[in-house]
Amino acid sequence: MTILVTGARGGVSRALVGQLLDAGQEVRAGGRAPDAVDLPDVVELDLARAETFDKALAGVTAVFLYAELGGLGAFLDAATKAGVEHVVLLSARGADPAAPDAIMRVHGEAEAAVHASGIAWTFLRPGGFATNRLWWAAAVREQGPVREPFPDSESALIHEADLAAVARHALTEPGHDGAAYTITGPESLTARRHAELIGEVIGRTVTVERQDLDEYRESLRHLPAELLETRIRRLAALVGKPDPTTTTVEEVTGTPARTFARWAADHAADFR
Ligand SMILES: NC(=O)c1ccc[n+]([C@@H]2O[C@H](COP(=O)([O-])OP(=O)(O)OC[C@H]3O[C@@H](n4cnc5c(N)ncnc54)[C@H](OP(=O)(O)O)[C@@H]3O)[C@@H](O)[C@H]2O)c1
Repeated sequence: MTILVTGARGGVSRALVGQLLDAGQEVRAGGRAPDAVDLPDVVELDLARAETFDKALAGVTAVFLYAELGGLGAFLDAATKAGVEHVVLLSARGADPAAPDAIMRVHGEAEAAVHASGIAWTFLRPGGFATNRLWWAAAVREQGPVREPFPDSESALIHEADLAAVARHALTEPGHDGAAYTITGPESLTARRHAELIGEVIGRTVTVERQDLDEYRESLRHLPAELLETRIRRLAALVGKPDPTTTTVEEVTGTPARTFARWAADHAADFR
């Protein structure tokens, strides 16, 4: 009855492993750098390296899976052979293999691969993560302004602990097979408001400067170009417009989604 949580260093994975251990579940964390993870049961797992699959999957009945396309099909074949009964996939809002939006498309392709495996599934389809605001952390620590291309763009960012909580319920209770949950934070706020709330937590004003789009592209050059351009189009589309919210976190977990102010308080040390 071991639950395998992939992507051991990821924000959602770390929150999920902690919640599952607190709930008394048997958990194995799998990641590309197992030595970097301080947990009782952690193994090497790289979705791009099939030789890491068997050890990670031994005795596993349920998997929390990141939508890393390279190697996903081979991993799902190995999971089927290992007797895995349920996969909870970290997908994205609007996932659709036919979508023109690149972020929706790659997550739709990951969902299609899980679907094709025949293993029972639950898809988590979050909007933007509050952890994206950690991109500001170095600038805030250095007491400078944060730079954003669209300071008045709105987003209903989700706390990683809430995503983890929905995943924990899906992995440990019946009734979530075949569900695709669109998950957001509880409130749509501008980037400027996020900066104000971080400032309130650290006791100092955090100002936002408008960033030139080419500078923004340069700062995120590690992202594939198509995903980056999709992100820019989305930010532009939500200038002065509320990002739609859902109540999925409360419906699944019984507790309302955490606010951005709560996220900022939980991450104060990252910004000080
Ligand atoms: N950020 C957002 O706003 C947002 C919104 C919707 C959906 N998502 C999706 O959520 C996922 C995580 O996003 P994040 O921003 O939170 O990133 P993150 O915290 O940096 O996590 C990325 C994770 O991917 C794992 N990973 C990467 N390549 C892997 C491989 N070859 N084999 C196994 N694991 C691999 C990493 O695990 P190890 O390094 O431990 O191996 C890590 O846990 C992505 O699929 C993203 O598209 C993100």
